[in-house]
Amino acid sequence: MRLLASLLASLAAITAVAAQTQTSNQTAPFYLKLTAENPDLNGNYLYAGHTGALQQTWLLFDSKPPANDTSVFFYWNYTIYNDVPSQTGLLTWLFPSRPSSPVPNLWLPLDLTLDIRSNVAHTYISSGPGYGIYVGWDGDNLYIPGAGTTDDSTNVPHVYPNVTSSFGLKLQQWYVCWVYFGSYYYQAVAWVTAGAPHNPTCEAVSIVREFV
Ligand SMILES: *[C@@H]1O[C@H](CO)[C@@H](O)[C@H](O)[C@H]1NC(C)=O
Ligand SMILES: *[C@@H]1O[C@H](CO)[C@@H](O)[C@H](O)[C@H]1NC(C)=O
Ligand SMILES: *[C@@H]1O[C@H](CO)[C@@H](O)[C@H](O)[C@H]1NC(C)=O
Ligand SMILES: *[C@@H]1O[C@H](CO)[C@@H](O)[C@H](O)[C@H]1NC(C)=O
Repeated sequence: MRLLASLLASLAAITAVAAQTQTSNQTAPFYLKLTAENPDLNGNYLYAGHTGALQQTWLLFDSKPPANDTSVFFYWNYTIYNDVPSQTGLLTWLFPSRPSSPVPNLWLPLDLTLDIRSNVAHTYISSGPGYGIYVGWDGDNLYIPGAGTTDDSTNVPHVYPNVTSSFGLKLQQWYVCWVYFGSYYYQAVAWVTAGAPHNPTCEAVSIVREFV
């Protein structure tokens, strides 16, 4: 009882802190839909598919999920500064609380993870300190800002390179590829860091949000 009381007290404290330090606002839920030249991929919807404990990557549904399936809803967490919504924020997904699992509802952000033998990075939806890549919307097309980056294919010794300083560079290097990830092998959404994809199964796609 004493333990329960102190547990409830610390939960209340955590909730109070969370309320004080709300770091973002969140959009209404949306679906993520592919546009692609390949008709087998065009119009597919994305879902967060299992790659390990609390780890997901983007996999494909070939048709629109039923409206009551909230597990395919995604959200965008953004901030407001001087009444102006930020251009980039975290793409988030709610890891559902399951009766079979002790894990409560958890908001997990999209990130990318490197495959050290390739230029094809995995999409990765997981938890942990520092996880999450900032993304924005060009219209409704998902992009990653190239702010603060350089094009290292033009680097010259001792010559300080041109650095992208604004959000003008809206990179959309999204592909669907057959990938090996977390001991699974499946067709998933990936990001190609530069140049042609090292993986020959990759096909370029765009990711478009469609509000529920
Ligand atoms: C959605 O509704 C259908 C039909 O009523 C039902 O069979 C299905 O289990 C529901 N799915 C979810 C995720 O609630
Ligand atoms: C996103 O926003 C929701 C709602 O405010 C919040 O509960 C959640 O912690 C946020 N998630 C991330 C990863 O920022
Ligand atoms: C969330 O939105 C409200 C209402 O527009 C705003 O006052 C608040 O500053 C926003 N919070 C953040 C963290 O952007
Ligand atoms: C930076 O950009 C300017 C204008 O496009 C160009 O003239 C210059 O050569 C570039 N510098 C480097 C180091 O790439």
